[in-house]
Amino acid sequence: AGHFTKIKPLKGKKVVVTAGPTRERIDPVRFLTNFSSGKMGYAMAEAAAELGADTILISGPVSLPVPNGVKRIQVESAQQMLEAVLGEYESADMVVKTAAVADYRPAAIAGQKVKKKEGNSVLELERTVDILQQLGQLKSRQILVGFAAETDHVAQYAKDKLERKNADYIIANDVSADQAGFDHDTNAVTVYGRGDFEKAFPVMPKKALALELLSLITEKEFSK
Ligand code: CTP
Ligand code: CA
Repeated sequence: AGHFTKIKPLKGKKVVVTAGPTRERIDPVRFLTNFSSGKMGYAMAEAAAELGADTILISGPVSLPVPNGVKRIQVESAQQMLEAVLGEYESADMVVKTAAVADYRPAAIAGQKVKKKEGNSVLELERTVDILQQLGQLKSRQILVGFAAETDHVAQYAKDKLERKNADYIIANDVSADQAGFDHDTNAVTVYGRGDFEKAFPVMPKKALALELLSLITEKEFSK
């Protein structure tokens, strides 16, 4: 069923959304990744376009169709995602970082397939760049929205991330809860914002939730 939104409160605004997991290569046949399905990020991009925004979706590898009215840029690694986001940042009014970016990558990518040996093995990892934190440092007028999937101390960790990354909102979900988080079509979140702003949303389909989240942020940030 088509959803028709008459009011376009994001008309004239450019929204950049990142979605999905990243892949960090180990060798030509192997990589490190996570369980992100991309569904929440794609829903955020679809909602931004429905609200009238010029919408760019920077996506890690997922098998989801490009939402209507959205321009997609496909990337693989955290580094490629960083470069793609920076390329769109200057002209952006809002960046929504829904992607589950790898925190670590192999310190070296082997040129040939790594052969097994007897006994245990260790893989040396190095930190990736924290994209949201980088955007927070470079911020001029952009509204920065992060996501956080947590299994415990949700409020405390979300508020820490808001501060540390100089973000305007952190949308937190408790992935230990039923019907929320990775690969579900539904999600339940709490939004944390500057000045102790806090608003909880009940379990609902990711598409409906995305529209509510973006409407809330649009109302608070762009309706002045
Ligand atoms: N994020 C990012 N770049 C990274 C890691 C995270 O931009 N290298 C962004 C995510 O896209 C998300 C937000 O930061 O919007 C929070 O991600 P999360 O993994 O919850 O936070 P971390 O700071 O990585 O902390 P931790 O994984 O230790 O909880
Ligand atoms: Ca992380």
